[in-house]
Amino acid sequence: MDTNAEKKYFFEALSLLYEMQWLHNIAVTEILTKASLDAIPKEWIEHLRILENEELNNLIARRTIKSEWPDSLKTYVEKCQNINRLPLVQTSPSRIELPQKFKIGLSRKKQHEIIHLAHLVHTQCKLHDIQTIVDLGAGLGYVCQMLHYLYGYRVLGLERDKENVNRACIRQEKLYPDSLTKVKYIHCDVTRDSADTIEFILQQEFPGFTDACLIGLHACGDLSASASRIFCKIKSAKLFILISCCYHKLSISKNIQTPLQEKQYFHNFPTSNCLRETIAGHNFDIGQFLRVPFLRLACQESADKWHDMSKEKHDEHSFHVLARAVLELYSQQNNLVLKKKVRKGTRKSQCSSFQSYVKDSLLRYDLVPDTNVKFTGNVIVHDELEEGIMQVWEEQSKRLETVKIYSALQMMLQLPAESLILQDRLSWLQEQDLEAVIVPVMNKCISPRSYAIVSHKS
Ligand SMILES: C[S@@+](CC[C@H](N)C(=O)[O-])C[C@H]1O[C@@H](n2cnc3c(N)ncnc32)[C@H](O)[C@@H]1O
Repeated sequence: MDTNAEKKYFFEALSLLYEMQWLHNIAVTEILTKASLDAIPKEWIEHLRILENEELNNLIARRTIKSEWPDSLKTYVEKCQNINRLPLVQTSPSRIELPQKFKIGLSRKKQHEIIHLAHLVHTQCKLHDIQTIVDLGAGLGYVCQMLHYLYGYRVLGLERDKENVNRACIRQEKLYPDSLTKVKYIHCDVTRDSADTIEFILQQEFPGFTDACLIGLHACGDLSASASRIFCKIKSAKLFILISCCYHKLSISKNIQTPLQEKQYFHNFPTSNCLRETIAGHNFDIGQFLRVPFLRLACQESADKWHDMSKEKHDEHSFHVLARAVLELYSQQNNLVLKKKVRKGTRKSQCSSFQSYVKDSLLRYDLVPDTNVKFTGNVIVHDELEEGIMQVWEEQSKRLETVKIYSALQMMLQLPAESLILQDRLSWLQEQDLEAVIVPVMNKCISPRSYAIVSHKS
């Protein structure tokens, strides 16, 4: 690993994310309350608001710029391009069709993920003569069953949710009884200290096994970092193939409340010495600008999905972003907070106009007094709420075009954000003297978390 080149990359990525924090350092519901739309440079808006729909899509998905644009805008687009180190995804449609019984209850997305990951795992295991696989965070065991069915591997699926383990076992007994001795599901909360436990379980379930491959499909939050550490520690683990997801579920190690915001620091980000030293060397306070909203952006849908987005879809997206932000603004102006009554927020299907959006929202949210603010006014009754929110919408709805521009600029940061996170994880493995690369596995338009880290112990 060329440490100087890595540090240069990390410095450039941190500088861009620091400079552009108005695009990623707040929840999308707060774009009005935190005045994020006002942070877009006026001259950027002038040029971007006159783009045809196709030109806007080309900017987002292909980073196509125009010569007459201000230099600052051109530089932003170029930096987004340069700081994305993730390789281009070139998956060809798989020729493997899942057998009918494997498709039961599986979405097209899940089928796509299983086929492509299983294919990569098989290619790599064949190369290194490995016959045993450990799936960390096995869920309902889809990948485990597929790896056995298609390629004959012995597979140990470890999962911390007991209900998932039960369901995987029931599914196995019902649909794949022939696999009972070769595919095992065990309840296990995998942590960074689980290496000995996993070796013990492996010996117990597959006595005499030699080399193993550790895999994870959509290993969320801290599980990805734990998996890398476990791979280092287990001697017989020779191969590691990991697709991460839900970066925003990383556990927080420390939060500090400041008058303006809550600073957030994470246990497992950054992980590499290289990124840590770059941060320290340039006095970046990442708790201030690489917070949960940044991690959320990193695991959003890919900009590729925007390459043929219709004007109607853009408009619908902007409407929902602004409508939700208006609810937030109204609440803040009236010292209220929004509390979800049901798990899901406002239903998109119910929102042909802002009025129907408000009616639906008031069924799904309670607006309750903010206990952090001393209550001085009168209790607002339901009809007044609706009227008050409608009034804020009247004032703000002219900003729909600006929201579209904001969303586009934000979308362009998704790849640099994910690139920084994965590059940090890659550097950590390389610092342990392991070979490690990032490999594109899936079609991003079908499955946005499409990159695997592949590492091999020689
Ligand atoms: C996004 S799901 C993916 C499931 C499966 N790999 C798949 O792709 O179908 C993540 C799974 O990891 C499990 N998980 C998360 N953290 C875990 C941990 N520390 N130890 C074991 N399992 C974990 C969750 O319960 C969940 O089933």
